[in-house]
Amino acid sequence: MGTADGSSPSALRLLVLGAAAGGGAPQWNCRCSVCARAWRGDAEVVPRTQASIAVSLDGERWTLIDCAPEVLAQIQRNPELHPRGPRHSPIEAVVLTGGDIDHIAGLLSLREGTPFTLYASGELQRTLADNRVFDVLRPEVVTRTALELDTWLILPGGVEARVFAVPGKAALYQPGEGEGIGAEGETTVGIELCHAGRRLYYVPGCARLSPALAARLEGADVVLFDGTLWRDDELIREGLGHKTGARMGHLSMSGPDGSIAALAPLGIRRKVFVHINNSNPVLVEHGAERREAERAGWEIAFDGMQIVL
Ligand code: MLT
Ligand code: MN
Ligand code: ZN
Repeated sequence: MGTADGSSPSALRLLVLGAAAGGGAPQWNCRCSVCARAWRGDAEVVPRTQASIAVSLDGERWTLIDCAPEVLAQIQRNPELHPRGPRHSPIEAVVLTGGDIDHIAGLLSLREGTPFTLYASGELQRTLADNRVFDVLRPEVVTRTALELDTWLILPGGVEARVFAVPGKAALYQPGEGEGIGAEGETTVGIELCHAGRRLYYVPGCARLSPALAARLEGADVVLFDGTLWRDDELIREGLGHKTGARMGHLSMSGPDGSIAALAPLGIRRKVFVHINNSNPVLVEHGAERREAERAGWEIAFDGMQIVL
């Protein structure tokens, strides 16, 4: 039996709740050339909240992958995530892919006493445990489960998933956050979702395409990938900051060493950039960078984008 939108009832559905990198687009304190267009209400730059997706097999039981500071607005905008009765939420689990503020701050908005399971790597669970403010997620209500890398688990509603190490970087508030950039471990992870033999990957932060990561993504049906910067020195050139993308732990899109080139030979059916920084000119709908990315087979995620696997 089909559904109104033509997808099979057991299709894996993914909602992009937020497509921007840390800070959102436009960012509260930024009037770079991209943000300026968004502040003016120019339809060429659609505002985006910070990166998070929701996934479900049955449309009733949902898992959030990351929990952005705007999670309340994201829930409000997506009827699938509205409560079905007094004190209810279809969100039954949250999986974290990193410890940066844009991944975790929304957890503080999920503190009102409705149970869910909070999945994260052992390292990320320790980070949350070390930050007392997260104790508002009381242990008798929110179950915290440490994820083993490369180990399948069943998310609410039967979604098969596993997390894996991605070359990444410690969160900005961690001591020594600039050390070990690009190391693979529990600090930064990606998630693989599998349904009916099809594979989807969500990798919102990635410092470099390691051989192991390239092998994993090869032949995937859908990859949502780190789209933070267009070029490595973008923040410096625009006078917005002093860090390169490499220092931030993000592989940039363009150039011979960029993600567009690196993922090109991997035979991925559908490639989507997410976690896009407000400085990234790819956000301009008909701009040269957008056309270049699209010609290379990439889509640019936006809040409200839906993907069916
Ligand atoms: C990043 O992806 O580099 C972070 O979101 C930075 C931040 O927390 O603002
Ligand atoms: Mn981020
Ligand atoms: Zn900006």
